[in-house]
Amino acid sequence: MGGLKHIISTKQFLDTSILENLFLVANQMENEDKNKKIKQTLKGKILASLFYEPSTRTRFSFEVAIQKLGGKVITTESASHFSSVTKGESLQDTIKILQEYADVIILRHNKEGSAQIAADVSSVPIINAGDGAGEHPTQALLDIYTIKKEKGKINDLNIALVGDLLYGRTVHSLLNLLSLYSAIKIYLVSPPELKLPQKYKDVLIQENIQFEEVEDIKKILNKIDVIYVTRIQRERFLSQKEYEQVKGSYIINKEVIKSLKEDAIIMHPLPRVDEISPEVDDDKRAAYFRQARNGLYLRMALLHMLFNGELKQRRL
Ligand code: NCD
Repeated sequence: MGGLKHIISTKQFLDTSILENLFLVANQMENEDKNKKIKQTLKGKILASLFYEPSTRTRFSFEVAIQKLGGKVITTESASHFSSVTKGESLQDTIKILQEYADVIILRHNKEGSAQIAADVSSVPIINAGDGAGEHPTQALLDIYTIKKEKGKINDLNIALVGDLLYGRTVHSLLNLLSLYSAIKIYLVSPPELKLPQKYKDVLIQENIQFEEVEDIKKILNKIDVIYVTRIQRERFLSQKEYEQVKGSYIINKEVIKSLKEDAIIMHPLPRVDEISPEVDDDKRAAYFRQARNGLYLRMALLHMLFNGELKQRRL
């Protein structure tokens, strides 16, 4: 039995039992919040949010999560503008300073691998809130939690991941978690330029997960239980021209969702640009705002369990 300290990649989650425990606590957090009876289990703990890239949901929900549990937050408006990196300070040095002030550091950075670099020098837990086109593990945890809540299960589902599978870090983290389940079928829907990198396909192959790469979304709409739409990650493209070629590849509107099953769900990590038309928001299958709300409770559960040594798993 070992407890997780840093949360860098969803590859750290080796079986579904740790996820089930996390979901139970997240559910409990939601109930306690509704009844205004949240236990102040993290009183005295300080969370540092160090974001070198923009964020709405991830940062606010982490900051609210610790405060609801009795802790406090230190932060900077934008780490790339207002921290000492502008003077040339390295990420390692920044972490070595923050670890003296805070009990946990939530890090979002534009470079893949940066969360691991931070964890290597940090005495306090580092939580990866997105490292470039790498991973975004806590988003994937809340995504799986949302699927479980909405569909009652994860096994036996047909799941389509749509859009920017090349640079979309939430998809990368989500695939690692989905590979822990069985009898699922994954459709990887993207333009040829934005296909899933081989290393994530290798995980699916290794875990015997059925998957199919598809370009035309119309071919699969009536087969899927979960459609997970992503934003084309404009900030990762080398040129505007390359972005223009693929932008607007998939647009989910009222017409498109006519072909979806009655009990399918539509997810998106948000922010959206034009991939899902606002006219879809009123459809009961649109789960993306519920998904964002789940993020708060999932992150409360994660912080609570991390500090209480409860993020343990059977296989190590
Ligand atoms: C995602 C991200 O930052 O990777 N946003 C989020 O955290 N919900 C998705 C995106 O930016 O497209």
